[in-house]
Amino acid sequence: PTLKVIDIRACADVAHRKQKGVLVAVDNTFMSPYFQRPMSLGADICVSSATKYINGHSDVLLGLVSVNRDDLYERLKFLQIHLGAVPSPFDCFLCNRGLKTLHIRMKLHFQNGLAVAKFLETHPRVEKVIYPGLASHPQYHVMQKQCTGVSGMVSFCIKGKKENAVAFLKNLKM
Ligand SMILES: Cc1ncc(COP(=O)(O)O)c(C=O)c1O
Repeated sequence: PTLKVIDIRACADVAHRKQKGVLVAVDNTFMSPYFQRPMSLGADICVSSATKYINGHSDVLLGLVSVNRDDLYERLKFLQIHLGAVPSPFDCFLCNRGLKTLHIRMKLHFQNGLAVAKFLETHPRVEKVIYPGLASHPQYHVMQKQCTGVSGMVSFCIKGKKENAVAFLKNLKM
């Protein structure tokens, strides 16, 4: 992931001022609602894959959409029911269970992500680290303005050529 941070309020201001009817939709998956609230920044639609942080236990495939307008809600509800995108009660139960620890998990993802990013930033074989929680990130100031934390997603580039990246991946242990 490129982990570019978009200024949601600035986008919403431009979109809503330019033309009536333009909708601003945000995929908030990487941030989770614990760290970023797109609707309060002016977005009209917020989508999240609950498969990731929101559920947090890797045992559910689920997504959610939040909207701030009744007409959008009615339209999406219609599509959901008629296309059959309806989660099972058990998946909802599992996701609700996971949600109860979201705040604790997100704080730890932030701590761990920052520690990994800082470690990689000083590593001699790393060219660059992309993590919005690092002051070196190009949109660090945007992140500080609109988020209360950063998740565990970290990107980095290996120094050297393709062979170096391949060697890294071949030796990677998960
Ligand atoms: C940022 C982001 N949004 C949405 C999705 C879709 O998630 P799901 O697997 O729950 O359909 C993904 C999946 O990787 C993702 O990375």
